[in-house]
Amino acid sequence: MHLKAVALAACLAAAPALLLAQTAPADSTLAATPPMGWNSWNHFAAKVTDADVRAAADALVSTGMRDAGYIYVNIDDTWEAKTRDAQGNIRTNEKFPDMKALADYVHSKGLKLGIYSSPGPYTCAHYLGSYKHEKQDAATYAAWGIDYLKYDMCSYGNIIEKKAGKHTPENAAKRYPLDREAYEKMHQAILATGRPIVFSMCQYGWDDVWKWGPEVGGNLWRTTGDIDDTYKRMSEIGFSQAGLSKFAGPGHWNDPDMLEVGNGGMTTDEYKTHMSLWAILAAPLLAGNDLSKMSPVDLGILTNKDVIAIDQDPLGKQGDRVWAEGFSEIWSKPLSGGAQAVAIFNRSDTGKQISLKLSQVGASDSASLHDVWGAADVTATGGTYLADVPSHGVVLLRVGQ
Ligand code: GLA
Repeated sequence: MHLKAVALAACLAAAPALLLAQTAPADSTLAATPPMGWNSWNHFAAKVTDADVRAAADALVSTGMRDAGYIYVNIDDTWEAKTRDAQGNIRTNEKFPDMKALADYVHSKGLKLGIYSSPGPYTCAHYLGSYKHEKQDAATYAAWGIDYLKYDMCSYGNIIEKKAGKHTPENAAKRYPLDREAYEKMHQAILATGRPIVFSMCQYGWDDVWKWGPEVGGNLWRTTGDIDDTYKRMSEIGFSQAGLSKFAGPGHWNDPDMLEVGNGGMTTDEYKTHMSLWAILAAPLLAGNDLSKMSPVDLGILTNKDVIAIDQDPLGKQGDRVWAEGFSEIWSKPLSGGAQAVAIFNRSDTGKQISLKLSQVGASDSASLHDVWGAADVTATGGTYLADVPSHGVVLLRVGQ
């Protein structure tokens, strides 16, 4: 069976049977590998302007990030006006004077433009959402030249809650159809435009979205609440992804939220952990820092081509945890050609030596080992590799056959 069909079959098998409907699944040609780019929220939040987005596009080109794969320039919340026009069309506010011109500018750089909305009447920052205007909004986005839509539950959560209760396991069966319906509505509206638009679902991993996200056209879906620029939150989110690997594949990815690399709240070792874990998870790589003011170290972390190759490997398999003891964890991700990526994480507050037995990850004792961040080939002795892992750090290996 085709890989996509295998992954989809796995999702469908896991979804509650009575709730399955015949819909067009996620388009796997659109996000064949996890989307890469930049998003305004983590650094600029509600202050983002047209000028910031242009500067991000310029920086993606001048830093080499575009050529490393970072293609999408995504405007998050707060671009919207507070009211619609007389015909009910969504409008931009004064921070974004001409969205079509901005899209043309971004496209002229060989990049793609993303935008943000909500299935509810209001977005999370209380701007206008697409509630009851889904078709009209999708048509507007297509006319502007939008290539990516992040669709964030926000106030629609209150609508679901009123009808079906809070997102507790007991209410899941009642909530799921309403949740699904909202995303399916926008999926159909996007399809009707005829424009390929990556559909990024953001409902914080509620109602087991990974089981039905692909059915409603989700090319990616958030699996958790919001990240922030601390090791505590990043690691809590990243390491909680264990067990979700079977739900991801070409065209439909688990999304543990955007990157914080370069925002200043973590050490270099912690940002390497962030980037390594996201690569092992085949997570979307959406930089969330101010690209116009980036240190060479942070740029090096974001553009390490061996790490990006792990994330973007064409096999499209998400990795998973293979071993954990105390604050030490080993994760692996299958790669094309029979290789694999293996990450040895130290979550403790002191440096540690952690042993990797090659048999633990199904590799032979003679497998080749390359230390990705150290950019050096390394060797195992008697089938065991002893890694020196700094506090909150990682040793990321590419393991051959
Ligand atoms: C939610 C999302 C964030 C961001 C904000 C914008 O919190 O999870 O990623 O989009 O809304 O208001």
